[in-house]
Amino acid sequence: MALEVGYVVSMLFTLFILLLCVKHLIQTTKNNRMMKKKKLLPPGEMGIPWIGETYEFYKAQRNNKLFEEFVEPRMKRYGNIFKTRLMGSSTVVVNGASANKFFLSNEFKLVVSSWPSASVQLMGPTSIMEKHGDQHRCIRGLIAASLSCTSLESIVPKICRCVELHFNAHWQGEDSISLFRSTKMLTFSIVFKCLLGIKVESGMLEMFENVLEGVFAVPVEFPGTKFWHAKRARLGIEEMLLSVIRKKRNELEESCGRENGDGLLLSRLVASLIRGEISEAEVVDNVVLLVFAAHDTTSFAITMVCRMLAHHPNCYARLLQEHLEILDNQKVGETLTLEDTKRMMYTWKVARESMRLFPPIFGSFRKAIVDIDYEGYMIPKGWKVLWTAYGSHYNEQYFQKPLDFDPDRFEEPIAPYVYVPFGGGPRVCAGYQLAKFNILIFLHFMVTRYNWSLIYPDERITIDPLPFPFHGMPIKISPKL
Ligand code: HEM
Repeated sequence: MALEVGYVVSMLFTLFILLLCVKHLIQTTKNNRMMKKKKLLPPGEMGIPWIGETYEFYKAQRNNKLFEEFVEPRMKRYGNIFKTRLMGSSTVVVNGASANKFFLSNEFKLVVSSWPSASVQLMGPTSIMEKHGDQHRCIRGLIAASLSCTSLESIVPKICRCVELHFNAHWQGEDSISLFRSTKMLTFSIVFKCLLGIKVESGMLEMFENVLEGVFAVPVEFPGTKFWHAKRARLGIEEMLLSVIRKKRNELEESCGRENGDGLLLSRLVASLIRGEISEAEVVDNVVLLVFAAHDTTSFAITMVCRMLAHHPNCYARLLQEHLEILDNQKVGETLTLEDTKRMMYTWKVARESMRLFPPIFGSFRKAIVDIDYEGYMIPKGWKVLWTAYGSHYNEQYFQKPLDFDPDRFEEPIAPYVYVPFGGGPRVCAGYQLAKFNILIFLHFMVTRYNWSLIYPDERITIDPLPFPFHGMPIKISPKL
């Protein structure tokens, strides 16, 4: 009996030791993995908890020197990929065409786009920027259909009308205007009238601008804060859009079958709503998102093209010549056609070069949804990844004398993912075509109808977090006779 007890005790003891060994083995493997992860994290400084290098990042952004003061010095110290901590998030900043390709094309597989909480709440949690997989494809399909080749034929004269009306209402009789403000108003009405097919009512622009003001604010809904005002403005917009959507729904249901008659985006979204593919909230959220995506980006692009033209009179003379030739080939009373816009090749080179130097969106954040092994480094799941256009646009490996303004460099084809003002991969800009026509057509009317000059030729550009000219880029104008 005593022998049996001793046997059981020794068995239990052996089992206990064995368990300890297994536990130790698991722990050691875990530690080794952690060590390995730690060892393979990209180089860089995480700074103090939460804050990290947020201050340096914002300071550089405000000076419009994000590349020169934040990205470039770290690239020199650590290489094309480095870690930092921004606004509480462990972040890896990646630079160069192969990084752009890797992270942008692996959207949904390795990373997903990541927006601040205030942006998601104000744009709406069901907008395209929060969609993945099939739902993302569905919304993109609707936007793409409204900007397909056949729709573009009709969009060009519509944009022309919008631009002419804008010049008549806001430029005629003035001797100076704020170019940034003017192009913001114009872009707003182009998105509503030409893309969505919604009439612009007075006060709408202000309501949307109040929402946009809060998109990057601290999401504290306390009376008086930017975010609080933005949330209130968003409620007003929801109310207004819901009545427009319901009216359109009635029209489409009554016309049964001829649902996409006008081919405009609102009709397509509402037709999709009737088919049960998307909800009313999704229609509202995506309209708000489109205005946000189009507004400051296109207006900043136009503003910077004008600044570059003012600084480079030879380029301006060539661009003007291109537009005078298009005018010469027009019959009296005719407006621009899609074919005419295809002849604006030099103008588009100027615009591309300007967006290379001054990308309206300098880059954006992604979040790793799995542990990512990239270039021998580990990017742990949950970390943010920031890709920047600067990383390739300002790199002499891709562009000779990258800081020079030289539209002719676009005569040569550019390798994929090198030139990325419109992003790339599944989230590449859905409004690229609209932005292109908006820029080309605006410049056509501006240079053929007005003499103009910058009031502050070296006006400061700041980023907060989208770039804008500090004084709104005022210009002197006088009509050409
Ligand atoms: C010069 C003007 C514009 C520039 C530089 C620009 C740039 C960009 C960039 C870089 C992205 C990708 C962001 C990312 O990867 O996180 C993007 C996405 C997007 N853009 Fe634009 N954009 C412009 C104009 C427009 C316009 C006019 C519209 C709409 C009418 C628009 C609609 C969108 C939408 C809906 C997305 C999100 C696509 C998605 O998530 O699938 N953009 N844009």
